[in-house]
Amino acid sequence: ASAEKGGFASFMDKEIHDQPQAVADTLLGRLDTEGRLTLDEMHIDENVLKSVDKIVVIACGTAAYAGQVAKYAIEHWCRIPTEVELAHEFRYRDPVVTEKTLVVAISQSGETMDTIMAVRHARQQGAKVIAICNTFGSTIPRESDAALYTHAGPEIAVASTKAFLSQVVACYLLGLYLAQLRGNKFRDEIGTILGELQSIPAKIQHILDETKSQVLALADRNQDVGSVLFLGRHVGYPVAMEGALKLKELAYIHAEGFAAGELKHGPIALIDDGQLVIIVVPSKRGRDSLHAKVISNIQEVRARGANTVVIAEEGDEEVDQFASEVIYVPETTTLMAPLLTTLPLQIFAMELATAKGLDVDQPRNLAKSVTVE
Ligand code: G6P
Repeated sequence: ASAEKGGFASFMDKEIHDQPQAVADTLLGRLDTEGRLTLDEMHIDENVLKSVDKIVVIACGTAAYAGQVAKYAIEHWCRIPTEVELAHEFRYRDPVVTEKTLVVAISQSGETMDTIMAVRHARQQGAKVIAICNTFGSTIPRESDAALYTHAGPEIAVASTKAFLSQVVACYLLGLYLAQLRGNKFRDEIGTILGELQSIPAKIQHILDETKSQVLALADRNQDVGSVLFLGRHVGYPVAMEGALKLKELAYIHAEGFAAGELKHGPIALIDDGQLVIIVVPSKRGRDSLHAKVISNIQEVRARGANTVVIAEEGDEEVDQFASEVIYVPETTTLMAPLLTTLPLQIFAMELATAKGLDVDQPRNLAKSVTVE
């Protein structure tokens, strides 16, 4: 088994380190000789994609957070209204689905029964379903109209890491493809975005090389915490929820991810002396001064005694004065940031669980793939 782990302490550790490759492989072969994005493998009628008037992403667990990240990008690039819904909720609430609805089912295993049932329901209503899946020939892609495979390689650890990143990448490719097809974006704009995507593997590698020991020390110091709050805004919000989920799954610590803007509407009441709050800060260069708004959220929780750990991009010195600790990740665009900011949160959960002596590959009560409803 230790050979299969490639010298790492656990499958999860290996899979976290596989992420530069997982992202690179998911991008591989998606450009034609003219530099246009091609998703030929999908075998879906272009006219169908051109007439889509709504996208509904269905998934469970971490895959659903990948969908939530993708919603920001798809709506921004394609101007198609996009909803994200947990598969088990979608299936049983009589959702509005028509022939013009494109359902995107995201699943690492392709065998999650809740997602399978939602796919069947959507197709019965006449929707077209595209599966984003990591397992070739599994049930969800077989039962969908088309499949776009992630190429993360086998994921063994129960808690998803590299599958998540490659799901975000695959959703982004789908979004860019729709934008290209529908003429929402010019080829050079799409080329610029793809160029940024292509720079991500090296940036992930940089995080693995430069910040892992810092996050390990942080996890060691915090192994006795009773609860952790995660805050994020825009695409940082689903990243915060994913960070909280990882901590619940691996370390059995109560954790919650909040939209930073929602803090003042309730969650701030939870802040007490010493409460650990991990904040994902948007890029300074991002839209609508979200950076400044999240900085004031950090000040607000800090003033109430919180221990503030901040994930920010390199060169962001403003965060320093309000943070107990800053974990820096390389610069990228607002929409690409989740592919980087997720890394420290994955490592934090893994190292904290390890410090507590827990089995990070096989957390209690969980299954890699839940094949019952
Ligand atoms: C289970 C796993 C999660 C995973 C979810 C969805 O609950 O423990 O890690 O995110 O299923 O799995 P899927 O294979 O559909 O992506």
